[in-house]
Amino acid sequence: MTDHFDFDHLINREGTHSLKYDARQSLFNESEVIPMWVADMDFAAPPAVTRALAERAKHPIVGYTTEPESLFEALIEWHQKRHDWEIQREWIMLCPGVVPSLHAAALAFAQVNEAIIVQPPVYFPFFSAVKNTGRTLIENQLLLTSSGYKIDFDHLEACAEQAKMLFLCSPHNPVGRVWQAEELSQLLSIANRHDLIILSDEIHADLIYPGNRHRPLASLAHNPSNIITAVAPSKTFNIAGLNLSALIVPDPRHRLAIAQAFETLHVNVANPFSLTAFEAAYRDGEAWLVALLNYLSSTRDFVSDYVSTHLPSIKLMAPEGTYLVWLDCRGLGMTDTALKQFLIKQAGLGLSSGILFGEAGSGFMRMNIATPQAVVAEALTRLSQAIKQI
Ligand SMILES: Cc1ncc(COP(=O)(O)O)c(C=O)c1O
Repeated sequence: MTDHFDFDHLINREGTHSLKYDARQSLFNESEVIPMWVADMDFAAPPAVTRALAERAKHPIVGYTTEPESLFEALIEWHQKRHDWEIQREWIMLCPGVVPSLHAAALAFAQVNEAIIVQPPVYFPFFSAVKNTGRTLIENQLLLTSSGYKIDFDHLEACAEQAKMLFLCSPHNPVGRVWQAEELSQLLSIANRHDLIILSDEIHADLIYPGNRHRPLASLAHNPSNIITAVAPSKTFNIAGLNLSALIVPDPRHRLAIAQAFETLHVNVANPFSLTAFEAAYRDGEAWLVALLNYLSSTRDFVSDYVSTHLPSIKLMAPEGTYLVWLDCRGLGMTDTALKQFLIKQAGLGLSSGILFGEAGSGFMRMNIATPQAVVAEALTRLSQAIKQI
């Protein structure tokens, strides 16, 4: 069967308890803003996934479930094929979301008051996972240069002397960098010198634009035993509500430490629908992903062109990966609160405030462009009109 993928079709998500749509009133105090904040997409999941879910739902019993071996095969094949990364079966631990894994890793690999490095501006649960578990946060700010965001390796080396662990975001949300092999190798040598354990959050690994290549950090390491990689089909295939991810943990002692952290709460991931969707996505979702990347890539180019042509007070570095666009709005000269209110009230847009991603995000906004292009075009027109009226 050949499936047709229609990313232009706007699906009404209101009334589905969608966080993105149905929480607008409570979050933005406006129920009508175009929601371009939380990182899920307004596109139907791959037909292969929805068919598998419907098939599973036909069976009337959804009792306690085991993890099917075929799911592990699908995950291994996907990473081999798409990322040239050979994952051993025993390295894989199924986990709930990636954010719980950040917490579990903090508990497993740093003692209370030991330090974990994060590189802001970065996805905000990186901060809270460190703080919630009573670990010490060390920030290695990314450097904003004329050619984009870079890792500050000198400062990282200094931070590494005092830390147990690093949370890496690769590709990096919110700035959209896809770290290159040379950058990751440099990071690996620092980690080796200081015996740092790295949790590499690679949840956005499949959402890469032409001309860039995601390199799994562990695939570049001579000895990957200190690297724990979080992977998931949730962003790739738009199934984040199903809350299932995997940790790839080559070292058996590290697997035990993580299992113990999860077991203190008896966290169980064996949800029959999550398992079904996870496997179907990795096994049969590739054609859909290829079509999606084509679509997102043209949306990204459209947004870049529009911003540079029509919005001179805003700067944008086109993302190399992710469907998140990091808008430098400092030229508007507003405080973070005023900027957020301006976008809500004057432009009718619900974006994520850059300041949520750390102080370095002050003056920035993050825009989720994974929605039909007509919606993106409407959002940019609104923004342009609102700026003209300032
Ligand atoms: C870098 C990163 N990690 C993790 C998550 C969320 O993962 P999960 O929903 O599996 O907890 C997101 C969602 O936006 C993200 O951008």
